[in-house]
Amino acid sequence: MARVVDESLYEKADADPLAFWAEMAQELEWIAPWTDVLRWNTPDAEWFVDGKINASANCLDRHVASGLRNRAAIIWEGEPGDERTLTYWDMLREVSKFANGLKSLGVRKGDRVAIYMPMVPELPIAMLACARIGAIHSVIFAGFSADSLVDRISDAKAKAIITADAGWRRGNKLPLKAIVDDALDNPDTNSVEHVVVYQRDTTPLGDLAWNSDRDVWWHDLVANMSFHCRPEPTNAEDVLFILYTSGTTGKPKGIVHTTGGYMVGTYATAKYVFDLRDDDVFWCTADCGWVTGHSYIVYGPMANGVTQIMYEGAPDWPKRDRFWRIIEKYGVSIFYTAPTAIRAFMKWGNEWPDARDLSSLRLLGSVGEPINPEAWVWYHEVIGGRSSPIVDTWWQTETGAIMITPLPGAVTTKPGSATRAFPGIQAEVLTPDGETVETGGGLLAIRDPWPSMLRGIWGDRERFVSTYWSKWPHTYFPGDGAKRDDDGYFWILGRVDDVINTAGHRIGTMEVESALVDHPAVAEAAVVGIEHEIKGIAIAAFVLLREAHEHDEDLEQTLKDHVAQKIGAIAKPEKVLIAVDLPKTRSGKIMRRLLRDVAEGHALGDTTTLADPSVVARLKTEYESIEG
Ligand code: PRX
Repeated sequence: MARVVDESLYEKADADPLAFWAEMAQELEWIAPWTDVLRWNTPDAEWFVDGKINASANCLDRHVASGLRNRAAIIWEGEPGDERTLTYWDMLREVSKFANGLKSLGVRKGDRVAIYMPMVPELPIAMLACARIGAIHSVIFAGFSADSLVDRISDAKAKAIITADAGWRRGNKLPLKAIVDDALDNPDTNSVEHVVVYQRDTTPLGDLAWNSDRDVWWHDLVANMSFHCRPEPTNAEDVLFILYTSGTTGKPKGIVHTTGGYMVGTYATAKYVFDLRDDDVFWCTADCGWVTGHSYIVYGPMANGVTQIMYEGAPDWPKRDRFWRIIEKYGVSIFYTAPTAIRAFMKWGNEWPDARDLSSLRLLGSVGEPINPEAWVWYHEVIGGRSSPIVDTWWQTETGAIMITPLPGAVTTKPGSATRAFPGIQAEVLTPDGETVETGGGLLAIRDPWPSMLRGIWGDRERFVSTYWSKWPHTYFPGDGAKRDDDGYFWILGRVDDVINTAGHRIGTMEVESALVDHPAVAEAAVVGIEHEIKGIAIAAFVLLREAHEHDEDLEQTLKDHVAQKIGAIAKPEKVLIAVDLPKTRSGKIMRRLLRDVAEGHALGDTTTLADPSVVARLKTEYESIEG
């Protein structure tokens, strides 16, 4: 039976949300108690005021001390098939050794450490080692380009970078250290004093460049380190990490999370949403480079002392059954993935999951984008064998932890709905003017502060206030549209700002546009999201060429590759349309809605506000001729 089977937890949280969060917080280990649960002065929250807590001690030492020392913390599989199992005690030792290694390099409390690594156990080890000494980690997804690294390293003024010589993806080696070297050639990154390199590749490292004043192998760094390292008594409001995410400008924003509230939020949601038990084998398929990996691979599950699976590579390598083989092999009981992946599995065919024994599964989760009812039903039937509940969890980098979700056992699900707010969270749908929408569509809003909420944007107070706190008084604006049905259930409709959620990843239209105009052939670019069978939403780019530039045959492909090279493969446009003009309003604003209509082949909407209505008609003809 599930941990929560009725309304009791909701009722308790509704009656006194602060008492509810305090009760959750009591389950963690505090070095010094808090005085007040919350001090709130919109938009500044302090949770567990004056409390002292160490995140890594809650993820490791607490379990080692309570008899779980030999429980597997991470069962890891590399893409080529190599395997490692690390117990909680192993993790504590590795984290402590690496934390001592970081200290020996001069990394201190409050310093920023960038982490650019493949999905190997050393990635969570590096994160927890930073947390142990109070250094602030900034994990940068290993699919990002050298330019993206430069932006993030320079914004945070990182003192050290932790990387690997290589990582595996679909049988290819990603040359991570070489990409870091490229980034560090840029003078904007001169805050970096040390590069620690984990050796993932066992073949001879012929062409690996090495700067012995700056670079050090992970194994050399930890060779003589003690495996005791006292956890730093960090303040509840000390910054735990920065995680960059896309917004509506060309510059990604460094979302800031602090320690106490974030730990309470991820711990409580992991415990109740995934209903974690001692014998569970939990698998979240995200990469630690995204918030899902931070909250539901590293901090939430490990604070709960659960055993989890970590996998390095692609789901279709070497064959399309890799995930189902992993579930069968390790008896995975809880599986948490993204709708994009589910739609790809559907397309690949039932024969792959059908050939494996998935009977160990008892709970399924979905995250990152709206799940269409068809994918939900397939997930339920084919993967869950009709017996595992599905938790469709809505949240964001900014919210730190799951906000809207069913609790298995307590909430009846509906395919495609994230259902209800987690206990202690006040979610609503509002009109742009701030009127409550009881049933129907509007904008998603969060009324009251919650422990794992973002505390700011690194170095940009004004953007923090204007992006999230200026739509309505004292209310958080997440940037999503949503509707509520007759039962009050939430149905998330997607982004309402200039952010595209493609294949479960966030990309700002401006970022892609800047990458396009960076190409010498491009004078102007406009990017929109269009519907896509697998990705949910894909990127379509309209570009105007510079006059002198020929439109040669390969140009579309060249421009797609250019974006991938500037930002990373996740930002690569699905379609590029070379246009002769772009539809603009009389004030010069590009009308993206019309571009979306053109790119999706829909009938054109109202064009009366256009400066030159013939532009759209012309675009549509051009585009149809290309499509045809
Ligand atoms: O649009 C929402 C969508 O993903 C956005 C947050 O993206 P990110 O910060 O990268 O975090 C993704 C993982 C938490 C949201 O603004 N989103 C996330 N989960 C869901 C979702 N949309 C619909 N349903 C969800 N379950």
